[in-house]
Order: sequence, then structure tokens, then C-alpha cells
Amino acid sequence: MEASVHSLLSLLTFLFVFVIGLLIAVAVILFLIDINQSKSAIRRNYPVIGRFRYLFEHMGEFFRQYFFAMDREEMPFNRAQRSWVYRAAKGVATEIAFGSTRAGNTVGDHHFMNSVFAVLEQEKNTETTIAFGPYCDRPYVAKSFFNISGMSYGALSKPAVQALSRGAAKAGCWINTGEGGVSPFHLEGGGDVVAQIGTAKYGVRDEKGELSEEKLIGLAQKPQIKMFEIKLSQGAKPGKGGILPAEKVSEEIAAIRGINKGEASISPNRHPEIQSTLDLLKLINRVRQVTGIPVGIKLVVGDPAWLNELCEEILKLGIESAPDFITVDSADGGTGAAPQPLMDFVGMRLKESLPLLVDTLKKYQLKDRVKVVASGKLVNPGLVARALATGADAVVSARGFMFSLGCIQAMQCNKNTCPTGITTHDKRLQKGLNVADKAARVANYHKKIVHDVEMIAHSCGVPQATELQRHHVRLVTEDGKSKSLAELYP
Ligand SMILES: Cc1cc2nc3c(=O)[nH]c(=O)nc-3n(C[C@H](O)[C@H](O)[C@H](O)COP(=O)(O)O)c2cc1C
Repeated sequence: MEASVHSLLSLLTFLFVFVIGLLIAVAVILFLIDINQSKSAIRRNYPVIGRFRYLFEHMGEFFRQYFFAMDREEMPFNRAQRSWVYRAAKGVATEIAFGSTRAGNTVGDHHFMNSVFAVLEQEKNTETTIAFGPYCDRPYVAKSFFNISGMSYGALSKPAVQALSRGAAKAGCWINTGEGGVSPFHLEGGGDVVAQIGTAKYGVRDEKGELSEEKLIGLAQKPQIKMFEIKLSQGAKPGKGGILPAEKVSEEIAAIRGINKGEASISPNRHPEIQSTLDLLKLINRVRQVTGIPVGIKLVVGDPAWLNELCEEILKLGIESAPDFITVDSADGGTGAAPQPLMDFVGMRLKESLPLLVDTLKKYQLKDRVKVVASGKLVNPGLVARALATGADAVVSARGFMFSLGCIQAMQCNKNTCPTGITTHDKRLQKGLNVADKAARVANYHKKIVHDVEMIAHSCGVPQATELQRHHVRLVTEDGKSKSLAELYP
């Protein structure tokens, strides 16, 4: 017995000495590598220890999210915003206790002005109808003011698109295909679909990469396809085309887009055939004429003067020639992949561009003709309600619906390593995304947003969410007092 204890102790001592020896040997090798390399100054000046910097930098992202960042601190979306979506999507209570953690007193923060006479149950109107394309053969009447923004199959995984499509059908809202074209998975749920036409014309291109009228007609004949959206630019990357890294271009995606498998899918930074505002209107009208359904455009506002030019050009041609809708995307919108300088610095944010667009359309008496769809971080009811009050007819969200699918903001959409299976084509990672379960969450999230926006409207004394007006919103100004949005943007 004593002998076996003795031999066990000897073995443990040997193992201990061996492991320590191994660690010292590895440290010496790394030390020699570090002091003899010239690529990293930190590793050369602080051999071995300097290497921990990279590990901590990587791990910091996760630690901050779970342990150190305050509820309202993180970017692009803070924990309070995300948690609300998660709870709404799961269908659990979203009520909070004790008091708000929203400071609400920084310049630009908004508050809704409740009415003394809130709307009674029997006075509420929860029906929405937004009529697009009055001059089309087949106009579209949308039934929801909250819808799913463009995200391609490619940027998103197959189960993610399937869950969004089924969830949208359940919720009664539309899903926009994004510039990657209409995939079978966008259609799978059976609900309304807005088909986006990106600069590479994926899904509607001929062999030369030009717009194919035959393919446009083919799509428009599907009753589910309700509108086309010509994408001019996107908030996260104005002036840059879509980027789908090579590792995400599978055989299926290549076939849908009409490109080669395994090659990065990079679309031009604008539609080559649109050289002027007139060209743009001609293209809108061409697509509308051949398909018979409403056609709109998506852009992030850059030069505000262009909006005047657009309206003047429309009036010259006649109001029928106008786009049936304009989706105005915020400069801080999301994407699967984009260069940081464009994400951080280029384009106008929605808080400024939305009132500008609405007011310009009103100035030219085009606001009724051209519907305004707003997007950009509108993931919670208070933000959606503000956009409607500012003058948007509808709102679309991309990342809000990604959160409803379980996105944890791991910021890896461009790497094929998304841990929740939403933006990866790695089958192992996709396994965690149960389509039926997530479709229910998508619908729950939609229902809760609509409910809570309506709740804000009813508190402000209007029976319907789409009746919210600028005078219902006040913004905190520099002297700490608030001013009505109607006064700031008369
Ligand atoms: C993963 C991902 C893919 C996207 N793909 C497209 C696209 O194909 N076409 C497009 O116009 N916008 C695309 N967007 C932008 C969104 O449609 C939306 O305009 C933007 O993210 C702002 O909305 P959000 O703040 O609710 O996300 C994408 C966004 C994300 C996050």
C-alpha cells in the first residue's frame, strides 16, 4: 500500500516537473521568436507577455458584453435594447420594475407627449393599410407598418432566411430579399416579398450581367412578389457594392445570383446604367411597366440638394413617373460586410434624413404619392414610433429581426463563424437555429413591436399608430429644455 502511494507521488512529481519544464521550454522558444521578429513592436519589446494583448483584446469583446458594459453602453445596440427584443421574441413579459435606466436627458433624446385623454379600448384602431403604387396594374396594400429589411440569402444562412420568411408570413408583414436575389427560402413562408434589385442585378440579370426583363416578368408573375426595390445605396456602405466573401459563396448561392461558386461576390458601387436622375426615373418606370407592380428605391441620403432635384425631375415627367416608395436608410445601418471608414463616416443619419426627405416630398406635394419607408436601428417601439411620428409611412428593420432570431451581436457576419448560425453557411453552426422555433419568435417580436407602438399612440391620444404626428414628440435641446419636433422641423 505504502509502496503504491510512493510510486503515485513519484509519478505526480515527475508529471509536474515535466509540465513546468515544457512550459519553460515553450516560453523560451516564444521569447526567442519574439525578440528576433520585426513585425510587432509590442512582442519585440515585451517578449511572450506582449502576446497576451491579442488574447485579451479578443476576449474583451465577450467580457465587456457579459460583465462590464452597463445596460445602455454598448454599440451598435446596448443590452437594454437587445434584451427587450429577446424577451419580445420569446413571448415573455417585457415589463420592467422600479424605474427606467434610460437617462433620456442628452441632446436629441426624444419623449412622447401623452394626452390627458388617452384612447379608450373601444376607440382603438389597430388596422393598418399602406397603399403603394396607385398607377400600377397591381398596386400593393401593406397591412403592417413594421417589416423586414433587405438581407440577402448569402449574407444570411438558409435557416435564418427560412425562419424570417415563415415568421413574416405569420406576422403579416413583408420581407425584403436584399440584393442577393429572390431565393426559394424567401418565398417559403408564403407571405409578401419585396424583391430588391442591387447593382449587380442578382437574380434578374442576363448573361452579360444586365437587367433581364424576362426574369423581372417571371418574378412579378409570382403573386407573393409585391414590389421591387432598386437599391442605390445602403447606410453602412454608401458608394460601395455588396461584398459576399468567397467562403460564403456556395453552389446554391452562386446559382441564385448567377455567379461562380467560391468566388467573392462583389457588386458594382452603383448601377452602371444610371448616370443621372432622369436615368433613375427611366429605370423605375421601365421596371414598373414590364412588371406592373410598384417600384421604389433605397438610399442613404448624402447631398440633400439631390432630393430637390429628384422631386423637380418627377414633376417634369408627371407624378406617375415617381418611385412608389423611397426607403431611407440611416448612415448607421447594418451590413454583412463593409469598410469601416464608410460605416463610421459616410452618409446622413436617419434622425436628420427622415424629416428632410418627408419635408422635401411635402414641399413638392409628392408625400402622398411617394411612400416613405424608414430604416436604421429602429429595433424598439419608442424608435419605431418616433419614425412614424416624423412622417414615415412604414419602418423596416434588419438587425431587430436578427436579434429575434437569437443574434448575440458577436460582430462576425463577414466571417462565416457566426455562433448563432444566422450569418454562417457552416452546417455545424446552423444546427442551433431551429427554423420553426425562430419563425415563431420573429412573429412574436413583430406582434410586440406593433402592440407597443400602438400603445404609445394611444397614450398620446391617437387611435392608430400611423396617426402619430411630430407634435407628439419632444426632443431634449442644448439648454436642457425640450422642444416639439413640430417646432424643430415645422
Ligand atoms: C446581415 C445584413 C445583410 C444586409 N443585406 C442587405 C442587402 O442585401 N441589401 C440592402 O439594401 N441592405 C442590406 N442590409 C441593410 C439593412 O437592410 C438595413 O438597411 C440596415 O441594416 C438598417 O436597418 P437595421 O438598423 O434595422 O439593421 C443588410 C444588413 C445586415 C445586418
